[in-house]
Amino acid sequence: MYRSARYHEPLLRDLNEGQPPSPMPKIDVPKTLQRTRPVALPVLEELQLMRHFLHLSHMNYGVETGMYPLGSCTMKYNPKLCEAISQWDSFTLTHPNQDPLTMQGTLQLMYELEQMLCEITGMDAISLQPAAGAQGEFSGLLLARAYHEHRNDTARTEVILPNTAHGTNPASASMAGYSVIEIPSTPEGTVDLKALENTVSEHTACFMLTNPNTLGIFESEILEIARIVHAKGALLYYDGANLNAILGKARPGDMGFDIVHINLHKTFSTPHGGGGPGSGPIGVKKHLESFLPVPRITKKKDVFSFAYDYPQSIGKIKAWYGNTSALVKAYTYILLMGGDGLTEAAEVAVLNANYMKQKLVDSGLYDLPYRALRKHEFVLSADRLLNLKGVRALDIAKRLLDFGLHPPTVYFPHIVKEALMIEPTESESKQTLDAYIQALITIAGEDTSLSKAAPHETAVRRIDEVGAVKTPILTWKALETAVATPKKET
Ligand SMILES: Cc1ncc(COP(=O)(O)O)c(C=O)c1O
Repeated sequence: MYRSARYHEPLLRDLNEGQPPSPMPKIDVPKTLQRTRPVALPVLEELQLMRHFLHLSHMNYGVETGMYPLGSCTMKYNPKLCEAISQWDSFTLTHPNQDPLTMQGTLQLMYELEQMLCEITGMDAISLQPAAGAQGEFSGLLLARAYHEHRNDTARTEVILPNTAHGTNPASASMAGYSVIEIPSTPEGTVDLKALENTVSEHTACFMLTNPNTLGIFESEILEIARIVHAKGALLYYDGANLNAILGKARPGDMGFDIVHINLHKTFSTPHGGGGPGSGPIGVKKHLESFLPVPRITKKKDVFSFAYDYPQSIGKIKAWYGNTSALVKAYTYILLMGGDGLTEAAEVAVLNANYMKQKLVDSGLYDLPYRALRKHEFVLSADRLLNLKGVRALDIAKRLLDFGLHPPTVYFPHIVKEALMIEPTESESKQTLDAYIQALITIAGEDTSLSKAAPHETAVRRIDEVGAVKTPILTWKALETAVATPKKET
């Protein structure tokens, strides 16, 4: 409350051209509609309120509470300096309708961030507009369609994906109006080149791929994949969710990708969760640049502006110009780390994943299907425990909660039975990794009844997850529970 008063006042004063905000107009409410006694709002003391919310916050779990190895979702630590800078008034008190001449600093930051991301990904142009990876995918696919249509190549109605693809890939392709074709992986866990060659045709708009893929395996045949796709006139789309693994080592642009999206919240340490506030910029090679969303940020004679004059553009895909606060955090993170720091982050992420993977494989309790060498994440199978003791990946995930640890992603990718997908990230120390490894080993050796009924130590025990999705309860009847119903007037 204190903050909001301070926060809004300068803005209101600006909007009124320097005058203090004018008082609310007086409205004559008819007598019959007027209250005769104060509204029965709950009255709590500040201390009670503080304790309540602090208690709730302690019941929550985040990367600042402990390790959060949610494979594919990349929960790495967000440096506080980036958070603090994104809260500067010079960013938070601007209004998107302001004259761009009065917000040159913010535009410069965005312009420079585009250039940094071009350099990191090896692409020629970037738009920072999309609000998440999935929206980046959708925008990238609209862009692919605009490109093919511009060349009168209108028979391209299909998007091909490997069976390791993240769920948002087929969803985005369907939303963009394409039919989706899934191709199998090899016993190595990589794209089956023969299957790709047999599937790609003059009906293919693009092939979507993440590299390293969702098994954490680097697609080492990527140049051949690019050749096969391009030979049929199709485009190669890079799902950049796993860019964290190859920062400073390899660039999708050099691998032959035409379109990329980057999940800033995964690789460049902006918060991720609950659908945002994320950011999923898209990058393209020169031949696709004219189709990027508008406005574009341009720089002429040291003046930055929003430019709309791109007749082939797919148009606007996000209100204003993306999530500015996420962009400020990513920009700060890149400057904070520097080129060498980003490369080191990728190296440590890969080292941490391979350390954990090897220790757990050596335990003899979990299996590692597909190729052994992984990048930033690895997917174990708990199928052996299911066969031996009836313990499922879900039971292990629930039991980890009793150890005060966040579970890994489970049952994804679908091609691994009883999958446990672990992404430790570069943020964690060896001690933390060892404690997590030990918890997984302990759980595998425990009496089955412990994991089958887990969690035992949490405020909420095992919930009906299917019910929660199919019949969610999204409202809370505040008046019935918290506020005494006012007595009728006598
Ligand atoms: C491989 C992969 N692709 C795409 C996405 C979608 O990204 P976002 O959550 O930013 O929409 C994710 C998200 O976790 C992912 O793991």
